[in-house]
Amino acid sequence: MDAKQILLSPIKIGTRECQNRFFMQAMECTDADADGNPTDLTYTRYEKLFKGEAGMVSLEAISITDRSRARLNQLMIMPKNLKPLTTFVKRLKEINPKTLFIFQLTHSGELSNPEFSRRVSVKPLPTYVSDILTEEELDQIFEDFVLASKIAHDAGADGIDMKLCHGYLGSQILRPYNDRKWKYGGPWEKRRQFAFDLYERIQKAVNDRNFLIGSKISVWEGFPGGFGTAGPDTPVIDYTEPIDLVKGLEERGAQYFIQSAGSPSITVSLTQADRSAPYFAYLHQTFAKVLRDNLKPETVVIGSNYSIFRDGRNRLCAVTPEDSCLLNYGAKNIAMGFTDMIGLGRQSFADPLLPLKYREGREKEINWCTACDDCLELLIRQQPIGCCVYNKFYRDILRRTREEKGSLKVKHT
Ligand SMILES: Cc1cc2nc3c(=O)[nH]c(=O)nc-3n(C[C@H](O)[C@H](O)[C@H](O)COP(=O)(O)O)c2cc1C
Ligand code: SF4
Repeated sequence: MDAKQILLSPIKIGTRECQNRFFMQAMECTDADADGNPTDLTYTRYEKLFKGEAGMVSLEAISITDRSRARLNQLMIMPKNLKPLTTFVKRLKEINPKTLFIFQLTHSGELSNPEFSRRVSVKPLPTYVSDILTEEELDQIFEDFVLASKIAHDAGADGIDMKLCHGYLGSQILRPYNDRKWKYGGPWEKRRQFAFDLYERIQKAVNDRNFLIGSKISVWEGFPGGFGTAGPDTPVIDYTEPIDLVKGLEERGAQYFIQSAGSPSITVSLTQADRSAPYFAYLHQTFAKVLRDNLKPETVVIGSNYSIFRDGRNRLCAVTPEDSCLLNYGAKNIAMGFTDMIGLGRQSFADPLLPLKYREGREKEINWCTACDDCLELLIRQQPIGCCVYNKFYRDILRRTREEKGSLKVKHT
C-alpha cells in the first residue's frame, strides 16, 4: 500500500468509524465569549476542519467549570453552555457528518489562572504557588467531570477525551511527584485510582456504548517526578505506570488513546518539537509504539508531534526529505504498527484542509507548518490563536500585541 492508501483508509474506533487516519489535535485558541461559548472565530476554525475531511477532530481543552480555567477566554462546559454547544456541534455535523468530534474535558489544577480561577495543586511543584487540593474539593471535581461528560453527550459530541496530559489536573495526580499522603497520592495503586474511578463514573452516567471515551496521555513528562518517571525525584523514564494506566483504562472501556509527552509549562519543546530540536519528535513515535505494543489490537492509538515533519524541509539529518515528510513518515509508522492514526496540532492551524487536499491530489497546495511557534506566543499572551504565517488576521494580532507589550523572553505556556 502506498502512503495515500494507508492515510486515507478508514479505521474503527469502538462502534464508530473514522473516514481516514488524520486526527486534528485539541488546540486551545482563547476565543470563547465571557460565558465560555464558541464565538464566530471558534466557528470559523472548526468549520474549516470539518470541511477539510478530518477523520476525527478534538475540541480544544474545554474547562469543566469557570474556576478551573487556564485562559480567560477558554471554552467552558457547564449546564448554561449546553444549548450553544448543541448548536455548535449541529452546525459542524451539517458540514461533514462523517468527521467524528470529541470534546477534551479539562480541569487546569495548578495551571488554573488565579486572576479568574482557583489555582489548586495535589502537591505544588517547587516553582509553583497554589492551594492544596482537599479530598472534599476533589469529590466536587468528580461531579463536575461527570456532569461535563453528560453535557458533551447531550450536545451531540461523539465522545470525550478525559484529559490526562500536559500538567493539567489529571496528569498532576498521576505523577510520582504526587507522594502526598491522601486518597489519591503516594503508591501507584492510589494515584491511578483517580482516573479509574472517573472512567467508571462517567461510563455509568452516560451509559451509551456509541459514545467514545479515551484520554490524551503524556507518556513521559520529562522532569523529575513527572509522569512516566521512575520515582518522585528522578527524571529517568519508566514505562511501568503509563502501561498499567492505559491497560486499566482499556479494561474500563477506553477505545482510544492520544499519545503525547511533556508538560508545556515546564518542558514545552518536548510536547511540541520545535526547530531547535526537531528530533524530539522521534521520542513521541517511540512512546506511541509503547502504547501500541501493550494494548488490544482494537484499541486505537493516535500518535503526536507530526507537524515538525512537514514536507521534508525539517532539519532532520540522516533521512531524505521524501522519507521524512509528514505524509510518508506518518504512513510508514502506521504500516510498521507503531500507531493507528496521526495527530496534527500546529499543522491543523497551518492547513485545516490538508486531508481534503491530499485526497484530491492537491499536495502542492498544502500550507506546511514552519514550526515558528508564533501561534504558541499568542497562547502565552492570551490572545485569539491561529496560524500567523498563513492567516493575516492572526499575524496582525501578534504584531499589535508585540507593539503593545514588547517581545516575549521565555517560551512556555
Ligand atoms: C496554541 C496551542 C494550543 C494547544 N492547545 C492544546 C489543548 O487544548 N489540548 C491539548 O491536549 N494540547 C494542546 N496543544 C498541544 C497540541 O495538541 C499538540 O499535542 C502539540 O502541538 C504537538 O503536536 P504538533 O507537533 O502537531 O503541533 C496546543 C498547542 C498549541 C501550539
Ligand atoms: S504560526 Fe508557525 S508554528 Fe503556528 S501553525 Fe503557523 S506556521 Fe505553524
